[in-house]
Amino acid sequence: MRTQVAIIGAGPAGLLLGQLLSRQGIDTVILERRSGDYVLSRIRAGVLEQGMVHMLEEAGVAERLHREGLVHDGFSLAFEGRRHRIDLKGLTGGKTVTVYGQTEVTHDLMIAREAMGATTIYEADDVALHDFDGAAPRVSFVKDGVRTELACDFIAGCDGFHGVCRRSVPDGSIREFERIYPFGWLGVLADVPPAAHELVYANAARGFALCSMRSAGRSRYYVQVPLDEKVEDWSDERFFDELRRRVPEDVAAAVTVGPSIEKSIAPLRSFVAEPMRFGRLFLAGDAAHIVPPTGAKGLNLAASDIHYLSQGLIEHYREHSDAGLSRYSERALARIWKAERFSWWMTSLLHHFPANTPFEQRMQRAEFDYIANSAVGSAGVAENYVGLPY
Ligand code: FAD
Ligand code: DHB
Repeated sequence: MRTQVAIIGAGPAGLLLGQLLSRQGIDTVILERRSGDYVLSRIRAGVLEQGMVHMLEEAGVAERLHREGLVHDGFSLAFEGRRHRIDLKGLTGGKTVTVYGQTEVTHDLMIAREAMGATTIYEADDVALHDFDGAAPRVSFVKDGVRTELACDFIAGCDGFHGVCRRSVPDGSIREFERIYPFGWLGVLADVPPAAHELVYANAARGFALCSMRSAGRSRYYVQVPLDEKVEDWSDERFFDELRRRVPEDVAAAVTVGPSIEKSIAPLRSFVAEPMRFGRLFLAGDAAHIVPPTGAKGLNLAASDIHYLSQGLIEHYREHSDAGLSRYSERALARIWKAERFSWWMTSLLHHFPANTPFEQRMQRAEFDYIANSAVGSAGVAENYVGLPY
């Protein structure tokens, strides 16, 4: 088997890269460890930056997004019961975000890939990378018990944080930066109308809570929980009671309680691997970096990586220039570190850290007061939330 670009992982990064390359006549094969249904069952991010929306338009998969996605002009920060609205549109010269689930993005990309007739091999086991430091890389994998080899020009490592690509790089040539937070997010998806029209991020006496949504009839809520918490110990009733104790009173009063259709706990982590290129292997998305979800940046960063990588690959095939590929890691990392900073800062502002002293608690309050009373402070939050330029 042979292709031009072998893509490992059919998450949003891999599928978006595949789509952008297919549209330019570049051949790709995607190898995915899981089934398509499993990939679609993972409930994750929900907020798309305008830059990502433009990329989905460029990929020809934005029709349903424009029909069903919810354009948000602002969101609220709440602190000890007080609320401050960040006017995204007013503070950024007209920029907004779109609420549209990662599952929907993935679904739209899968359908478009199928329509292009491009190959995706699901349930590909034992993926292994070979010779990516030379001119003729290969990827081997096992499908239905048969080991197959895929020869290619380039390998795109879009296989998430626990994937095989980053682990295939020799130890000495990669540097990793990491912070692990002492709590996780317990998330619930429920078919009930959202408590508020816009997202509410709250730091309350009992910890962080977030009110989000997927549609006018589907809500997504999160509460901060200790890392050793078990999802089985959280009945829907307990979850909604806890949520309502953490959000401002008017929001709590508007929460509609209903049976959860998904409930899970995700740990919070900041992580960056440098560089993102090793010979003919390029890492993109969660394979190279993780942000804590507080700034809604994880999915959006995967898209901006793919912007730089797809440009580099298209230049290689169209213009026989490797300038874009040479600069890929540097360009992607410059944007990644700024999103890492914003996500770390939002996390620091809005959560209860068990080790925080009364001094640090006052710092959180002062930070909130500053933003709530400063147009410049609010504008900085808005500029980062809608997404920094590519
Ligand atoms: P992924 O979506 O992880 O896709 C990688 C793909 O590679 C997967 O389909 C995986 O099965 C496949 N794969 C892995 N290993 C192999 C292998 N060896 N061989 C072949 N295929 C392989 N971001 C937010 O902004 N807000 C959120 O609320 C939020 N919640 C999250 C909750 C969880 C539990 C997780 C894990 C992430 C969350 N994120 C959130 C982050 C966001 O979902 C990710 O940043 C985004 O999915 C990154 O896309 P990706 O394509 O890089 O990686
Ligand atoms: C959602 C997740 C986030 O991490 C976030 O910051 C905002 C919204 C969501 O799942 O809707």
